Amino acid sequence: MKTTELLTAAVTGRPVAIAPSLLSADFTALHREVTEIAAAGARVLHLDVMDGHFVPNITFGPPLVKSLRGCTDLVLDAHLMISEPEKYIEPFAQAGSDCIVFHYEARPDRAGELLRRIRGLGKKAGIALKPKTPAAAILPLLPELDLVLIMTVEPGFGGQSFMADQVPKIRTVAEAIAAGGYECELEVDGGIGPVTAKTVVAAGANWLVAGNAVFGAANRAAAMQAMIDAVRG
Ligand code: DX5
Ligand code: ZN
Repeated sequence: MKTTELLTAAVTGRPVAIAPSLLSADFTALHREVTEIAAAGARVLHLDVMDGHFVPNITFGPPLVKSLRGCTDLVLDAHLMISEPEKYIEPFAQAGSDCIVFHYEARPDRAGELLRRIRGLGKKAGIALKPKTPAAAILPLLPELDLVLIMTVEPGFGGQSFMADQVPKIRTVAEAIAAGGYECELEVDGGIGPVTAKTVVAAGANWLVAGNAVFGAANRAAAMQAMIDAVRG
């Protein structure tokens, strides 16, 4: 079984998808990496954009997204860990991102406006929450959200340990999505592997970002399958 189509999250019943994070891929072989995870059943590619200001690390920007767009049909999920997301929504949309996710903490006062801009460009609009930001901050925005991303590590680096204290927040957001009947993905990002995947899907998450657990493994397909099996089992 190569796909996650039969798997659904608790609470919302939405389909589960693994979203490998390019951050942990071999940057000398991105085309091969992307082809490999697509062949293994991935539908979503998570792209960690870091500006060296909102987070203490720097990664890549729209030109890389444009290059990837030219070589894959995967859903390109741009996670903007940047201080001024309003300046970069259009460039990431034009580069071919499918989902544009900015951090609530970067623009708490303008979140609704930015979500409407993203939707206006025909993209899925998402908000990410750092671990210390409560679910309540974004619940009023659910009608304008296509995706909520809950960080289960402090953003900035791959390969960190899952913060179990975020599980109640996942459940709270999942229950609000279900109660409102919203078409909103609930994405969890940081320290996700087979064991934690099962935990977060049971709490209601349906998009599972996995950097180290997929690209840190010699066999990416087997690593993804191990996550699917753990969730199913
Ligand atoms: C961290 C990033 C994550 C990261 C996850 O700031 O947002 O997407 O790549 O990596 P792992 O799965 O290794 O924790
Ligand atoms: Zn991320």
